[in-house]
Amino acid sequence: MIRGLIFLLLTFFSGKLLPAGESECGSLESCLEYKADVHDLYSLQRGLGVYMNYCSSCHSLQYLRWNRLQRDLDIPETILQDDLILNPEIKSSDYMIFGLNEGDSTAWLGASAPDLTLRTRVRGESWVYTYLKSFYEDASRPLGSNNLVLQGSSMPNVLASIQGNQQLSDKGFLVKVSEGSLTDEQFDNSMKDLVNFLAYAAEPIRRDREKNGIFVILFFVIFTAVMWLLNREYSKDIK
Ligand code: HEC
Repeated sequence: MIRGLIFLLLTFFSGKLLPAGESECGSLESCLEYKADVHDLYSLQRGLGVYMNYCSSCHSLQYLRWNRLQRDLDIPETILQDDLILNPEIKSSDYMIFGLNEGDSTAWLGASAPDLTLRTRVRGESWVYTYLKSFYEDASRPLGSNNLVLQGSSMPNVLASIQGNQQLSDKGFLVKVSEGSLTDEQFDNSMKDLVNFLAYAAEPIRRDREKNGIFVILFFVIFTAVMWLLNREYSKDIK
């Protein structure tokens, strides 16, 4: 009993052991809550578009194959070859590696750009969503930008052109100082599409798993009801 209690307490606190002054979301008090939706096909396709335009130059998706992506996201063959893969030497059965692997071409940034296939599972969807929205101008950094969630991040603020620039106020809040090509709402939606896409990439089977889960639960509910009725019938005879 006592051992069980200690185990429960340890499990509860183990997720909360962070350096002083740090929350799960770096110097923010908490992450912005976001739970990815992998069932909206158009959102996943838009997310892929954002990924190809703004992320693929540095980050690979080394556990996802082009043809799996094509099948799951309903992408026509011609679009896959001509607009996404681009390089005729890459086959659709290859993994989505963009020639810039960890450690080499992004070394000039001071850190390598990690593979993003499993990032939403490592960091959590809310973390990634908040990270993408928390870049701000910081003249003391080599590339002029910093991030509240990952202080000292070597990733440049590649989203500034669509989000606009943010700065840190005296109180430590992010304030917008210039407009980007998207409104705040459009930018938010775009980041949601991107996180949805990354969550799909982390677990392509998740769409089926969540869909089937509902049927399995429905089956159990109906099965329990039938068994309960059967049990009632049988008990009548026993009495
Ligand atoms: C110019 C190259 C570059 C581009 C483009 C880029 N990143 Fe990064 N990214 C980096 C580097 C370098 C890091 C490592 C930062 C560090 O650890 O200091 C990083 C880190 C990250 C991390 C944090 C990983 C972790 O868990 O620590 C995420 C998430 C991320 N990038 C997502 C994205 C997304 C999404 C895009 C597209 C909108 C993108 N990046 C575009 C270079 C880039």
